[in-house]
Amino acid sequence: MAMDEHLIAQVNKLQNAFAALGTTTNPIDLPQIAVVGSQSSGKSSVLENIVGRDFLPRGSGIVTRRPLVLQLTNIPEGQKLPEGYTLQPGDNADEWGEFLHAPNKRFYSFDAIRKEIEDETERTTGKNVGISPIPINLQVYSPKVLTLTLVDLPGLTKVPVGDQPPDIENQIREMILTYISKPNTIILSVTAANTDIANSDGLKLAREVDPQGARTIGVLTKIDLMDRGTDVVDILALRVIKLKYGFVPVINRGQQDINNNKSISQALEYERQFFETHPSYQMNAKYCGTPFLATRLNAILSSHIKATLPQIKLKIGTTLAKYREELDQLGDESMLGSASNILMNIITEMANEYRTILDGNSIDISTTE
Ligand code: GDP
Ligand code: NA
Ligand code: MG
Repeated sequence: MAMDEHLIAQVNKLQNAFAALGTTTNPIDLPQIAVVGSQSSGKSSVLENIVGRDFLPRGSGIVTRRPLVLQLTNIPEGQKLPEGYTLQPGDNADEWGEFLHAPNKRFYSFDAIRKEIEDETERTTGKNVGISPIPINLQVYSPKVLTLTLVDLPGLTKVPVGDQPPDIENQIREMILTYISKPNTIILSVTAANTDIANSDGLKLAREVDPQGARTIGVLTKIDLMDRGTDVVDILALRVIKLKYGFVPVINRGQQDINNNKSISQALEYERQFFETHPSYQMNAKYCGTPFLATRLNAILSSHIKATLPQIKLKIGTTLAKYREELDQLGDESMLGSASNILMNIITEMANEYRTILDGNSIDISTTE
């Protein structure tokens, strides 16, 4: 594993150790990428294209009702299927998912992953359309993904539907804000290109917590649905809104494509051809589309982790000291075999591993870009 990949993997381990402690607010502000945008702007489609598999619950209305922490890990091809598992047609031994709430169980079927996300969402929010800030943690291992951590958040809505509380808009807003206001979170702000960018909910919310656009990357979806003769060239050239990480235009599958079972690989091929042949984009086609977006996100996250290392190192030290003190106060008896003891060990182990990396000379922590 390359050093960058290893860094992201370590942050993932820390993230899981803290999630297992049952805290919704991680005591350490770990670097991550949070996806924001209006409902139906194409957030889930972007994530599926990055993973290359269909695995997210879909439908009209509010489908994402809990944050989904999606940890992608790149692994080599040719994995051996562990004993006790069988593969269904279309699945393979090189690609699987694991949930933090269902340890030691591999999901080789991405349909089963979708079902598990739906079931787990209902476990805390009920069958209606309520939302919950408690995240679901899903790890995806595959040779086709770049190592990357993305948090999918519920989409911004305006009007309550069904038996949603009247303040649903505010609830969602607050939940998104708790994630994106953390200074170490990169904001992936999704806007449909066939809507007015000046009215983009995702960009407006990002601007509230990141007024300089210093940690926001814009994604423009539905480029294929723009009126003929119009394009997003001005936005890409940052003449409309300034974002440090810029904008990336993408094309996902439309509803018709999904109904017709168009595969993600077919969709990616269409996307590539579209940008390479479109008069407005062909000159800069290599900066367009999903594969470029994934590469860009991987680079941004790695450099961001490096830049935040000294600060994280300090925070891990003080957090560990605090947990130790709390555990000491519990006394030896209650600690025997207790869950907190086990978790304490995990965190200590992670932190030590992390420190080893932090202390290694191989990383130039002055690198920011
Ligand atoms: P989310 O609510 O933000 O997660 O949005 P979804 O990913 O569920 O997409 C909402 C709808 O827009 C779905 O019917 C998608 O098929 C469609 N869609 C998303 N991105 C694109 C795109 O780039 N082009 C087209 N034509 N349709 C898209
Ligand atoms: Na949605
Ligand atoms: Mg969605």
